[in-house]
Amino acid sequence: MLKNMRLISYLIISIGCSFISCKYSVSARHADKIDSIPGRTWWKEAVIYQIYPRSFKDNDGDGVGDLKGIISKLDYIKSLGVDAVWLNPIYQSPNYDNGYDVSDYYKIQPQYGTMQDFDSLLQGLHERGIKLVMDIVVNHSSSQHDWFKQSRSSRTNPYRNYYHWWNAEKGKPTPRYSFFDVNNDAWKYDTLTNAYYLHYFAQQQPDLNWENSALREDIYKMLRFWLDKGVDGLRMDAFQFIAKDTTFPPFPAGYEKNIAKYYGNGPHLHDYIQEMSKEVLSKYPVMTVAEGADTSPEDAMKFVDPARHEFSMAYHFEGIDYGKYKPNYDLIGFKKIYSYWDSCFENKGWLAIFLANHDQPRMVSHWGNDAPQFRNVSSKMLTTFVMTMRGTPYYYYGDELGMDNIKFDKIEDYRDISTINAYQHEKNTGGDLEKFIEDKKRSARDNGRTPFQWDGNDNAGFTTGTPWIKINSDYKTVNEAAEEKDSNSVLNYFRKIVKLRKNNPVLVYGKYTLLDKDNPNVYAYTRELNGRKMLIVLNFKNKPATVNTGINLAKATLLLDNYSTPPEGNSLQPYEAVIYEL
Ligand code: NOJ
Repeated sequence: MLKNMRLISYLIISIGCSFISCKYSVSARHADKIDSIPGRTWWKEAVIYQIYPRSFKDNDGDGVGDLKGIISKLDYIKSLGVDAVWLNPIYQSPNYDNGYDVSDYYKIQPQYGTMQDFDSLLQGLHERGIKLVMDIVVNHSSSQHDWFKQSRSSRTNPYRNYYHWWNAEKGKPTPRYSFFDVNNDAWKYDTLTNAYYLHYFAQQQPDLNWENSALREDIYKMLRFWLDKGVDGLRMDAFQFIAKDTTFPPFPAGYEKNIAKYYGNGPHLHDYIQEMSKEVLSKYPVMTVAEGADTSPEDAMKFVDPARHEFSMAYHFEGIDYGKYKPNYDLIGFKKIYSYWDSCFENKGWLAIFLANHDQPRMVSHWGNDAPQFRNVSSKMLTTFVMTMRGTPYYYYGDELGMDNIKFDKIEDYRDISTINAYQHEKNTGGDLEKFIEDKKRSARDNGRTPFQWDGNDNAGFTTGTPWIKINSDYKTVNEAAEEKDSNSVLNYFRKIVKLRKNNPVLVYGKYTLLDKDNPNVYAYTRELNGRKMLIVLNFKNKPATVNTGINLAKATLLLDNYSTPPEGNSLQPYEAVIYEL
């Protein structure tokens, strides 16, 4: 009887959702007392959709995505129900690191279009009620930036101190590890002035010297330029690294295994952020999100404690780095990390929630299961996790289709400097190249950078030219056009759950409580706010599992399930995701 009632209520809800554009309207009994929520703000309630501009949509047929391409898809973006778009860097750049090496902060990368295109894009987004978050890359610039050209030209050039130089007559500088350098050496010797310059990333990405107030002023000027245009948010790239101890003291052996600890939180980091906030950020209604900030929740809190007037929110890496891309990661540890970080930010501060971005492999391949029988269902399950945790969801383009890793089997297919240089390093040091290629099928960033799959036509409808990177061969079946037609698709599930989150502040602000914490297969938790309570149950495994939440579901209403039949008792099907209202 109970089962039948649940089935009926389930059918009513799912039929409503499939055919009438479900509003998940909040009944009077359950209405969240929204106005009484302290610290309410748009960016906590927003779902942010990340677009990798090179790979979203090519308008001019050169094989590279561009701004006009994004403009042509604004109605699609609107249809997702997201509130803001985060664009990876679109500034002029020689593209060694796909735009994270900026040669002019005031110009648009010509491959992407013009400043006029940018203005039209911003206007088009705003007309649709969507905000724009720009990527701000100021730990380093491109070596082709005019500042660097001047800086390297002579030791007395006024821009010399815009970067970190070490004169060679002092001997070799203390070693610093570089993420992208073939030799992992962050000091590059330059004959022109007989000195070394610092680059934490590639040689073409010299680190800017934040200790120099003239540089900081130039950065603030640049930020005002974009904020005056009406940009709504800033994603602060590698920000925990900007401040350095310019005496460059030695670090203990093996320090490179914990870079965040040694490179992060340098002297005066928070003085610089507070200065920037006073000079610029506080004068605009802007949301800011710090990348990294992840040595510990205490360190991360320093960036986002409202009393400190620094950034709006931060994303930490402990979750995303968990398991280091190994299959069969331990779910109990995963739950521990997210629960711990949530508890540290329960009363103040705010975090981002994400399972993928342009530095990661595809969400479904990394955290779910991209085998054909599980790709859809595990994509939906992971999406359910991202959309029901506390924190602002950052959702990566293509994950709403269930796009998966391309898994290149030769180095020539890769475009990413970090993979190409690491391969070269492996080769130079006699490493196992076959193993390297195998590992990269799981971990490489290019897995997440392949073109968006719009339809089943040539080049997945991404370009009429030759795409800058190969397109995943599964585009014939995994594509937007096909998923539009299927009410059961990953895409339509994403739309439903975005709506659910947006119409239910309990999913945004509600207290998070982990249940059945030692269950190795299932992640279960409640979210609770002003008398409303939701239960989320997620089977992270490819086999049936049971859950013991201790909650009597007799009066529960099933709000969403990624299977077409509701769960029986405490049993869940592989990768099943269920949301109940209690
Ligand atoms: C972090 C960015 O997310 C990544 O893509 C980039 O390579 C580095 N910062 C360097 O800017």
